[in-house]
Amino acid sequence: MDKKSAAGLMAAAIKARENAYAPYSGFSVGAAVLCGDGSVYTGCNVENASYPCGICAERTAVSKAVSDGRRSFVACAVTGSSAEKCTPCGVCRQFLYEFAPEMTVLCGNKEGEYDEITLSELLPRGFGASSM
Ligand code: THU
Repeated sequence: MDKKSAAGLMAAAIKARENAYAPYSGFSVGAAVLCGDGSVYTGCNVENASYPCGICAERTAVSKAVSDGRRSFVACAVTGSSAEKCTPCGVCRQFLYEFAPEMTVLCGNKEGEYDEITLSELLPRGFGASSM
């Protein structure tokens, strides 16, 4: 994707990270998804005292978009609150794959420096509707 769109999407993810609720891990994550119609939805991680109930930033963002009628996704930016560039966890890779196996993923660190990769590289031979 072009540099300007990528930088804008990462900036939205960084802003969303401010709302992360991560009292247990102390690791804040923000995500922003770019939809096929140009709209952008953001999300953050929301943890819970019952740890498995927590949800990642990427799934928050995608769920907000889908519940608003969006199902086409071009890209997802994710940024964690550390110097390491944050890649989507395995569950989020599968969640994203459901809607856009070919989407672009921007994996960012706390400063917003990022690597661009495709979801199919992160989840090769992923399982989806066309696998059945
Ligand atoms: N986390 C995300 O929000 N997205 C990822 O893809 C990686 C992990 C969150 C989950 C948990 O709240 C915290 O980071 C530590 O694992």
